[in-house]
Amino acid sequence: MDWDSLTFSFTPTDMMYVATCKLGEDWQPGELQPFAEISISPAAGVLNYGQGIFEGMKAQRSVNGGIVLFRPERNAERFAKGAERLGMPPVPASMFLDAIEAAVGSNARWVPPTGKGALYVRPVLWGTGEILGVAPAPEYTFIVYVCPVGPYFKGGMHPISLKVSDEFHRATPGGSGGVKAIGNYAPGMMPSKGAKTEGFAEIIYLDSTEHRYIEEVGAANFFCVKDGVIHTPMLTGTILPGITRASIIDLARERGYEVIERKVPIKEVLEADEAFCAGTAAVISPIGTICHGDVCTIYCNNELGPVTKELYDALTDIQLQAAPDEFGWVRAVPVPEISAE
Ligand code: PLP
Ligand code: COI
Repeated sequence: MDWDSLTFSFTPTDMMYVATCKLGEDWQPGELQPFAEISISPAAGVLNYGQGIFEGMKAQRSVNGGIVLFRPERNAERFAKGAERLGMPPVPASMFLDAIEAAVGSNARWVPPTGKGALYVRPVLWGTGEILGVAPAPEYTFIVYVCPVGPYFKGGMHPISLKVSDEFHRATPGGSGGVKAIGNYAPGMMPSKGAKTEGFAEIIYLDSTEHRYIEEVGAANFFCVKDGVIHTPMLTGTILPGITRASIIDLARERGYEVIERKVPIKEVLEADEAFCAGTAAVISPIGTICHGDVCTIYCNNELGPVTKELYDALTDIQLQAAPDEFGWVRAVPVPEISAE
């Protein structure tokens, strides 16, 4: 593996965790299997009606040499909420965490060296039972697979350019924007592709009611800084409650910053001093430029803004155990002898 040229792309690894459950029954622990294709009926609920959710987390090689996860219990909680929203049996948190540890531990050789990337962990829950009517499928499959990844945005920490969309929205009140439903992502592909052909890295979505307030950046949450105060869109149900977002809010407040969660008008964002987006895949990605129609604001060129840099360092130092984990966010993964390097 060439650890220096990792990108955010799929690489098959050794093992995956698989469990199944019938509607109305309890989950029983699953098992590790060699990573392989699965067989599925064309009438599966997930294929016909999108009854599925996913998660995203990273296992990293810490500066101490061990393998660590960042707040996986929060992913377990969000996964359970998503399952309930989509009428699927929630995977118990203890089973979810065991599955993550098993998938990471059995693929330990795929965890990149410290600072070179991460092992992206992808839990999915799908309605795999056959169903013709629009209703919860009779059977469910929970899989965790993993894949070594590099930076989410091309160029790593190089500030990205974003385009505000006046045409497309990601989520509407009462919909599924607040959970990681698989169906939330395909409608963003063409807007995102269109923005890329214009030279932008991604789209910024506005709220679908008033078309004035920032919601999210593709698959990451949004932050801006004005006069030393940090602003981020409040969780209204249409925004994905990011674990990175929640961690940045806690970290920034602990470091003495005022952080305001509110509806953030695009007009004010274009007058901010710094902007960045945040997520498991994106970590903290500095935003260099935002364009809304003909109006573009340049926040930075190559140099990161000071608050963005401070928070990036603080977050990644905790994630890699280079700084004390005062919040108790980092969880070590036991690695079975056989797969240790
Ligand atoms: N927003 C969306 C739509 C996402 O898909 C993600 C990724 O999970 C995030 C935000 C960031 O969330 P987290 O920090 O939990 O990865
Ligand atoms: C993540 O940050 O983990 C995500 O889920 C982003 C993704 C959709 C690639």
